[in-house]
Amino acid sequence: MSDFTGHHIVVTGASSGIGRATALLLASRGAKMSLIARRAETLAAVRELAGGETFAAPADVSDRAALLGAIDAAEAALGPIDGLFANAGTGGTFAAFTEYDDAVFEDVLRTNLLSPFWAMKRVLPGMIERRRGAILVTGSLASERGMARNPGYVASKHGVLGLARAAALEVAPHGVRVNCIVPGFVETEMLANIPYEARATMAARVPQRRTGSAEEVAEVAAFMLSDAAAHVTGQSWAVDGGILNTLTV
Ligand SMILES: NC(=O)c1ccc[n+]([C@@H]2O[C@H](COP(=O)([O-])OP(=O)(O)OC[C@H]3O[C@@H](n4cnc5c(N)ncnc54)[C@H](OP(=O)(O)O)[C@@H]3O)[C@@H](O)[C@H]2O)c1
Repeated sequence: MSDFTGHHIVVTGASSGIGRATALLLASRGAKMSLIARRAETLAAVRELAGGETFAAPADVSDRAALLGAIDAAEAALGPIDGLFANAGTGGTFAAFTEYDDAVFEDVLRTNLLSPFWAMKRVLPGMIERRRGAILVTGSLASERGMARNPGYVASKHGVLGLARAAALEVAPHGVRVNCIVPGFVETEMLANIPYEARATMAARVPQRRTGSAEEVAEVAAFMLSDAAAHVTGQSWAVDGGILNTLTV
């Protein structure tokens, strides 16, 4: 188990699901945590639970100025940033490709792809200067496979994996690592939006015959953000009960 004492880690999408579970786990291992998401009250509750040195900066990550303002505030509050978990994401809506709404497509891209890009650009110079830093983005099975009726999500999640791979190569010589975590079907608010029957069908297709928990993803996220993963960069790591190995989503 890695010790994060003294590390300042920023997590987007920290108000629920995978981001919340990861923030709580990292805080329990000594990290100074900065939490970003839109729901201020929910975020405050996570901050309370995390205890220690935890800062909450409510912001809509699809708004570049708001996101950068939140990161500035985090740095002012808790000091230089050692880790970034760019995890906030939206599923968008399901519709036939030819009927997929342009505004939804743009919103999904801004939230899932542009926001990690903006956040990475913001934190990388300091990490490079200090020759220390770990960035993790949240991909999806849709980073590695196609999916019908959800082009915004698939494009954004392919994009975020590309972002991680591109940045990893560039910053590796400077002591900074960039990776992508790929959750399978994980019981969070996002999955809860999918009808029960569809969730049951999904779970049945997982080799482990079950969905995953946010805590199971958080364990791997914490490892990838830790110094224990010092030689791991440019990787996509699935936490999915084996499904990516077996299917076309
Ligand atoms: N659950 C799964 O099965 C699954 C599978 C593959 C990938 N993922 C990915 O995992 C990540 C986390 O999702 P989750 O499953 O943990 O679902 P979740 O519980 O719905 O969490 C999504 C998080 O993102 C935040 N968020 C969404 N839009 C935002 C915005 N515009 N600005 C700021 N924060 C925003 C939400 O906070 P607010 O609502 O408070 O803003 C929330 O904290 C996402 O990137 C998702 O695509 C999930």
